[in-house]
Amino acid sequence: MTQIVGIIQVKGGVGRSTIATNLAAAFSLAKPTALIDCDLPQGTSASWYAVRKSEAPPTNLTLATARDYRELIATAKELSRDHRYIVIDAPPRIAEMTRAIIVMSSLCLVPLGASAAEIWSTADLLRTIEAARAYRAGIDVRIVWNRFRARTREAADLSEAARKELGLSELATRLGYRVAYSEALARGLSADEWLDRTAHAEVRALAEEVREILKEKVR
Ligand SMILES: Nc1ncnc2c1ncn2[C@@H]1O[C@H](COP(=O)(O)OP(=O)(O)O)[C@@H](O)[C@H]1O
Ligand SMILES: [Mg+2]
Repeated sequence: MTQIVGIIQVKGGVGRSTIATNLAAAFSLAKPTALIDCDLPQGTSASWYAVRKSEAPPTNLTLATARDYRELIATAKELSRDHRYIVIDAPPRIAEMTRAIIVMSSLCLVPLGASAAEIWSTADLLRTIEAARAYRAGIDVRIVWNRFRARTREAADLSEAARKELGLSELATRLGYRVAYSEALARGLSADEWLDRTAHAEVRALAEEVREILKEKVR
């Protein structure tokens, strides 16, 4: 059975592509995985894949793109024949596409940086999540903190605010603000393949936590 993980956010630059590429690379270590880039023409995941492929043909990792929700549904259906995981890198602001991703995903992750602006913009996403619930029960959308500065007061306050205002649960794994993420992305690598032990550990923990959540769903 194929499991789909959607990475969604209305705001750009929050880390959707970072999380999508790292998760896809981690999943592909064990099982055939497809990464669908829906954020075109930006195409960060597609460019990441092209750089990766120029080094060596990626094992167990396929890239596809989709320009609208119809193409996405058709592509995901096709890929689900021979892929265990599908990771979707969503576009910002396109409610129709985001709603389709929420409906088709076993789990959606919403990257959120510790800034008030990101929490406010995420409030818009709640309407899309509500609309998606009309199509399917059991929709699971969780926050993943990115560029998190653990020891700051601001981060603690914002995470409290996000819990209250958004009412979404969050992953235990948080990604810190690390150069490794931007360096790895530019080189077609996952942070796990880059020389930063903390980023390695974060990405592995993220993939493990997501895999555990997905396991619960097939039981
Ligand atoms: N945790 C992080 N630490 C440092 N840089 C990050 C982190 N997450 C994302 N970035 C950088 O921020 C920029 C935007 O991230 P990206 O994943 O492309 O966002 P989105 O896909 O949501 O637009 C990229 O240059 C990326 O390398
Ligand atoms: Mg992106």
